[in-house]
Amino acid sequence: MIDSHTKLCCIIGNPAKHSLSPQMHNVGYEALGLNFVFLAFQSMNIQIALAGLREINARGIAVTIPHKVEALKFVDKIDEAAGNIGATNTILNDNGILTAINTDWISAIRALKKVTDLKGKKCAVLGAGGAARAIIYGLIKEGAQVNIFNRTVEHAKILTEHFPANGFHSLEQTDIISDCDIIINTTSVGMTPDMEKSPIPAKCILPRHVVFDIVYTPLMTKLLKDAKNVGAKIITGEKMLLYGGLKQFELFTGKKAPFTQMKQALQRALQNKEIN
Ligand SMILES: NC(=O)c1ccc[n+]([C@@H]2O[C@H](COP(=O)([O-])OP(=O)(O)OC[C@H]3O[C@@H](n4cnc5c(N)ncnc54)[C@H](OP(=O)(O)O)[C@@H]3O)[C@@H](O)[C@H]2O)c1
Repeated sequence: MIDSHTKLCCIIGNPAKHSLSPQMHNVGYEALGLNFVFLAFQSMNIQIALAGLREINARGIAVTIPHKVEALKFVDKIDEAAGNIGATNTILNDNGILTAINTDWISAIRALKKVTDLKGKKCAVLGAGGAARAIIYGLIKEGAQVNIFNRTVEHAKILTEHFPANGFHSLEQTDIISDCDIIINTTSVGMTPDMEKSPIPAKCILPRHVVFDIVYTPLMTKLLKDAKNVGAKIITGEKMLLYGGLKQFELFTGKKAPFTQMKQALQRALQNKEIN
């Protein structure tokens, strides 16, 4: 029951209405009987939003587009990963002290390690935006070799100056993509409504590849359909979303997240999204 002791957690973004986090977290609180609530707030000004949430002692704040970088300016502490990646997706409030964390890399690496080892593997990261930064950070931490491919090659080059990656390329350099073991799409290509698009041609995907697409609307993107058709192993973006939600839940509540209930809540929310 919500009462005057209820702890508030939320997601801040612009827009925020598309977020599936409230469904996942609230089901988790209910499953464990925790007096918490999770809401989604749209805000254009992360500085004001964080000042307000600090004042009312909100416990946990998930941060999404476009505030992931800017939010770092308005917290008291920044963890090593968030500092290195240059973005936060999770802020913890310990009695007025705000700590910025990045769990995007943790959730992506967990999704990958369910199906493949990473140490020494050649990875083609497609994209050079915020999600790419987090995933590259995680891949390098795991001892993988990273090649970055991007529409704007200059953006990929900037990342190789920050992270010890092997090289930067355009998305057209498909022979180098084929030569990798793991292909990870972090671009928004293939997302609804452009579901017929893929960031790379089907012919550069081989049966020995592991292909991970972090886009989750739709779950089966064109890239993943192409990969499945040749018999490659695939990982859907839903996994990263789920593992990210579980990690945030544990940071906010200090309790082990109820995996099954939160997974089912996310699946229901994704189905509703596809129907609507
Ligand atoms: N599954 C999850 O939990 C999860 C978590 C985070 C993000 N995501 C998804 O990941 C995607 C990227 O998010 P982000 O935060 O990294 O976005 P971002 O910082 O805006 O980066 C977007 C990337 O996509 C590339 N791109 C955009 N349109 C393109 C096009 N038409 N052709 C080729 N490349 C294109 C951009 O290339 P340029 O540099 O050339 O502009 C850039 O590399 C989104 O779809 C988001 O929903 C999923």
